[in-house]
Amino acid sequence: MERFVLNETSYFGYGSREVLPQIIKQRNYKKVLLVTDESLIKCNVVQKVSEILAKANIKFRLFADIKPNPTVENVKEGLVQLKKVHADVIVAVGGGSVIDTAKAMAVIATNPQYKDVISLDGVANTKNKCLPIIALPTTAGTAAEVTINYVITDTKRHKKMVCVDPNDIPTVAIVDAELMESMPKNITASTGMDALTHAIECMITKSANSMSDMFAYQAIKDIYKYLPIAVKDGKNREAREKMAQAQYIAGMGFSNVGLGIVHSMAHPLGGRFDIAHGLANAMLLPTVMKYNLDSPSKPKFRLIAEAMGIDTKDLTDEQAGQKAIKAVEKLKKEIGIPEKLSSLGILESDLDVLSEDAMNDVCTPGNPRETSVEDIKKLYKSIL
Ligand SMILES: NC(=O)c1ccc[n+]([C@@H]2O[C@H](COP(=O)([O-])OP(=O)(O)OC[C@H]3O[C@@H](n4cnc5c(N)ncnc54)[C@H](O)[C@@H]3O)[C@@H](O)[C@H]2O)c1
Ligand SMILES: [Fe+2]
Repeated sequence: MERFVLNETSYFGYGSREVLPQIIKQRNYKKVLLVTDESLIKCNVVQKVSEILAKANIKFRLFADIKPNPTVENVKEGLVQLKKVHADVIVAVGGGSVIDTAKAMAVIATNPQYKDVISLDGVANTKNKCLPIIALPTTAGTAAEVTINYVITDTKRHKKMVCVDPNDIPTVAIVDAELMESMPKNITASTGMDALTHAIECMITKSANSMSDMFAYQAIKDIYKYLPIAVKDGKNREAREKMAQAQYIAGMGFSNVGLGIVHSMAHPLGGRFDIAHGLANAMLLPTVMKYNLDSPSKPKFRLIAEAMGIDTKDLTDEQAGQKAIKAVEKLKKEIGIPEKLSSLGILESDLDVLSEDAMNDVCTPGNPRETSVEDIKKLYKSIL
């Protein structure tokens, strides 16, 4: 049996955030907590939303104490704010870090037995749907607004906890590319590569099915075409809109079928070294694709190549796969993703613990090729 969980309602398009007051009023929400992060206040992204609320006379309290790779402490502080305002809805304006923190807060608000946050790690058996969330993503990457996952770092164990729970899904997503315009080049590039990783891992993961393939194919096609344009010219509206939608499409797919070891290997780089999630994925993606080409998912690499516009007519699956990997390598270079983990301060002596963590990650069982701690270590080493 296949199961698909998606938002109740989603809005797309430049300026679509204008619909926010109407949603709040129609659904009769009375007390709003606006969740975001400090840099989004500094670069005036939050104001693009808060001024709409103010114009509609909707009062809200602001919580912005969230760091990239958000922590258990961020969630606990958010819960304090949630209680203070007796919020009946969370409006989350931000990237994956903000939306994930909002999800954890919203889940605990209605399932208070998980208030330690740590017990939500993995697949939590929550009973109640979370507090309503209206999510407005400001990056084109994680698709946290449509996924049933959220990722919180337990700084004590240096672990990125991947929490999987259909009760966490935001009720409404407003995917307004205008909120993404202010992303600097490096964040556009790394978050976009996160979205491409979602789409490619979704295409080849063990549980992939014809519905998730459809999402993965379209997402790969649009991201491959529009990510370099969005990086080069952040004000290119078409590229921003296509990226905003494509990352959401990738999210609809992977959220319902899972990922693979690019993500397993990226998570400990975030948990132990606070490396940005998209950047970690971007650096690992082509190397892990090469490894996964030798798996039962090999024929899927032909679809990846075709989505990237490669003519595969006279190619074997192996040849098509090799071309797809080359294309990802070229894209990675073109948008300025660094090559070596050592340039981020990773040492050879770190690889044992990183590999152990990656092997135990919740995404590992979905990888199309059976793997091992030794193989994972070799993969890290090849880009050290
Ligand atoms: N829930 C999921 O399904 C899922 C999937 C993948 C990753 N994640 C998690 O999401 C987190 C990463 O999220 P992310 O990649 O969106 O980045 P992020 O939310 O960590 O943001 C990165 C930085 O970019 C800034 N930023 C965001 N939008 C901006 C904008 N429009 N203009 C200028 N600056 C902006 C932020 O303030 C922050 O400093 C990680 O913790 C990762 O593990 C979650
Ligand atoms: Fe991701």
